[in-house]
Amino acid sequence: MSVLKTIRWLAVGAILGLVAAWGFHFWREGHTPDPASLAGSSIGGPFELVDQTGATRRDAEFRGRYMLIYFGFTFCPDACPTALLAMADALDRIGPLADRIQPIFISVDPERDTPEQLAGYVDAVDPRLVGLTGSPAQVAAAARAYRVFYRKATPTSATEYLVDHTSLVYLMGPDGKFLAHFSHETAPERMAETLRRIVR
Ligand code: NI
Repeated sequence: MSVLKTIRWLAVGAILGLVAAWGFHFWREGHTPDPASLAGSSIGGPFELVDQTGATRRDAEFRGRYMLIYFGFTFCPDACPTALLAMADALDRIGPLADRIQPIFISVDPERDTPEQLAGYVDAVDPRLVGLTGSPAQVAAAARAYRVFYRKATPTSATEYLVDHTSLVYLMGPDGKFLAHFSHETAPERMAETLRRIVR
């Protein structure tokens, strides 16, 4: 094969690889468990993580308020911003009831999502958000408690990669118990409706 042909094939291969990686990411993020399979299951539990200011945060300190929790990563191009902006929009729609709810974003990419990285992100998305990260072990424990799956997708380089992850927004009660969940595709109006119905 001529050099030119080889280069051409390599280019085609690289493009196909990228397309496949992105396709898998979209598929994975769109692939959420059937709501019925979540009913009655024990979602939630203790976590110890680090917030965007570097302070240690435990789930227990949020008792007495509702938590709206989403797991993702700041470099996520699609599902995460959609979900977090929908959360912010829904909170805007429910007036003073929103004061009862703490929106929380937990990173599944602790290597890149340092507290500093989270601080900039949370500030840009919604300053009401508490951004949480931690050691890989701390993040893994929190994800396990919420039955969240995540896995680094085929990296394009050491610092450029996607993370496949469960994409659900969890509403937890003032007692820390699971109440409802939404997908990142749930319209903010619908999320707000559910919040109005449940939050006291
Ligand atoms: Ni994402």
